[in-house]
Amino acid sequence: MSESRRPLIAANWKMHHLRQDASRYCRELLRGFPPEIAADVVIFPSFTLLVTVAEGLAGSSVAWGGQDLHTEPKGAFTGDISGEQLADLGCSWVLCGHSERRRDHGESDEAVGRKAATARHFGLKPMICIGETAEERRAGATQEVLERQFRAAVAQRPEPFALAYEPVWAIGTGETATPEMAQSTHAFLRTLAARVLGETASDGLRILYGGSVKPANAASLIVQKDIDGFLVGGAGLDPGSFSGIIGSSGPGL
Ligand code: 13P
Repeated sequence: MSESRRPLIAANWKMHHLRQDASRYCRELLRGFPPEIAADVVIFPSFTLLVTVAEGLAGSSVAWGGQDLHTEPKGAFTGDISGEQLADLGCSWVLCGHSERRRDHGESDEAVGRKAATARHFGLKPMICIGETAEERRAGATQEVLERQFRAAVAQRPEPFALAYEPVWAIGTGETATPEMAQSTHAFLRTLAARVLGETASDGLRILYGGSVKPANAASLIVQKDIDGFLVGGAGLDPGSFSGIIGSSGPGL
C-alpha cells in the first residue's frame, strides 16, 4: 500500500449546527487531540459556519472544507459559492457530488467533474462522492453506476483528490454496508482507478467509506485493505463520537 494512504477521517455536518455549537465542537474536538495523530482529519461545516470553524481550528492539524462549490470561478450565480471564496476562508478540501446534492439539486455526473476541476484550479482538494441507490444495487447495476460516476468525476484529472464511496441506501439509515461488502466495492473502485488513472495514482488514492459510520463499526471497516478512511454524517455531529471514530482508525488518539 502506498504511504500516501494515511487514514483520512472527515465529518460532513450537512445542514446542522449554529455558530455557538461550532465553536464548542472545535474546542471539544481539539481537547486532548494529540499532535502525532496518525490520521488526517477534516470538518465540512455549512458555509455560514466556515469562519467560526476556521477560527476554532486555527493552529491545529484539523483541516476544514466546503460542502459544495460552483462549477464556474465567479459570476452571476445567486446563492452559490465559488472555489476561490472557499480558498479565501482557508479551506483545504471541498465535497464534490454528494448524493444529497445530486438528488436535491440535480447535479449531473458531468457537473461533478467540472466542480472537481474548478476546485483544483483554486488549490482545493476535491473529495469526490459517488454511490449507488438501493434500486440500482437491487438491479445489479452498482458497478456500472459507480464506473459512470467515477469516470465523469475524474475526466479532467483533478489530482490530488480523495474518493468517498457512499452507498445512498446506507446514508442516515443506520444500515451500514458490511465490512466485506464495503471492501469488495472499494477493491472494485481501486481496480477501476488503476484502469482510468494508472497504477501509481490508484495505489495512492484514498478511498473513504461513508454511510452510517459510528464508533461501534469504524474499527471493523478501517481494517479492510482498501478502506482508507471515512466520510461521517450523523456521528460526526458530536465531537465525542467523531473522536471515537478517529481513534479507531489508527494509533494516536
Ligand atoms: P451518515 O453517517 O449520517 O449516514 O451520513 C453519511 C454521509 O452522507 C456523509 O457525507
